[in-house]
Amino acid sequence: MSDLHPRLLALQRSLAAAPLTRIRDRELADRQLELWIKRDDLLHPIISGNKWRKLKYTLNHALHNGADSIVSMGGAYSNHLHALAFTGKALGLQTIGYIRGERPAHLNATLYDLLDWGMELRFVSRSDYRQLRDCQHYDSLPELQAGQYWLPEGGATDLALQGVAELLDEIEIGFDTLVVACGTGTTLAGLLTSPLTNRAIGVAALKGGDFLIEDVAQVLNKQGLTSHADWRILVDYHFGGFAKTTPALLAFMQDFKQRQGVELEPIYTGKMLFALYDLIRQGYFPAGQRILAIHTGGLQGRRS
Ligand SMILES: Cc1ncc(COP(=O)(O)O)c(C=O)c1O
Repeated sequence: MSDLHPRLLALQRSLAAAPLTRIRDRELADRQLELWIKRDDLLHPIISGNKWRKLKYTLNHALHNGADSIVSMGGAYSNHLHALAFTGKALGLQTIGYIRGERPAHLNATLYDLLDWGMELRFVSRSDYRQLRDCQHYDSLPELQAGQYWLPEGGATDLALQGVAELLDEIEIGFDTLVVACGTGTTLAGLLTSPLTNRAIGVAALKGGDFLIEDVAQVLNKQGLTSHADWRILVDYHFGGFAKTTPALLAFMQDFKQRQGVELEPIYTGKMLFALYDLIRQGYFPAGQRILAIHTGGLQGRRS
């Protein structure tokens, strides 16, 4: 099963390399810190960032299991569904997305893309949506038909961890602390499974993110993988909640783009880097440290 399905191999070959970009600025220089960003946003215009990493082995499992259709869930701006719809089309898999809330009178750009790529959209009430979260196994959605494969919210599966951990094998420099944004915590958990991670900081994109600490620990436990790394999740950089922004966050992102040429989005990567610079200013990192931030993509979300 670990052999990559030929259709996935072909898709993988079409992806670009995700380079490491060194960020140089006064704040880093003054504190004798190095900051590098793993540009997973450059992997592909649509299947960017952690999406490809998380989908790769799960879709491999689905294809080897003979699935012809992937059923998943997400919000109306979901990066996960966006990447899934595109990837499904590229792999010749049908896709169905359960979308949280009522069908809007005017579809947003994300939903249009989903339809364009052939995803069937099923709008469900918020309470039904919450119930879908209880289905965590690929065959656990009750109404699943033959050939359909269930993919939980955010692509949060055990198989996602392996794909995420692979990202670090591409990093050719040593690093002291890794920093990544957290939604479900799967990406952080995957990075923690790598022996290359010694210290990691997750930045929760949503309000009340304390549950993520337990969730990540549980995911690792379930795999029998207690991470040797020293890790924590910062829960105070949500800027009012999931997908909420403030003028300070937007100004930070704009400034970062102007000075460093790296585009961020306000839902995940903007918050992550804002938090990182806040820690730098607080003197959190000892001089001489090399910090590795992961750009998890999601730039399509800026359209909302
Ligand atoms: C761009 C981006 N960054 C980070 C994350 C957080 O990933 P995870 O849900 O694995 O914590 C997401 C959500 O999946 C995302 O879309």
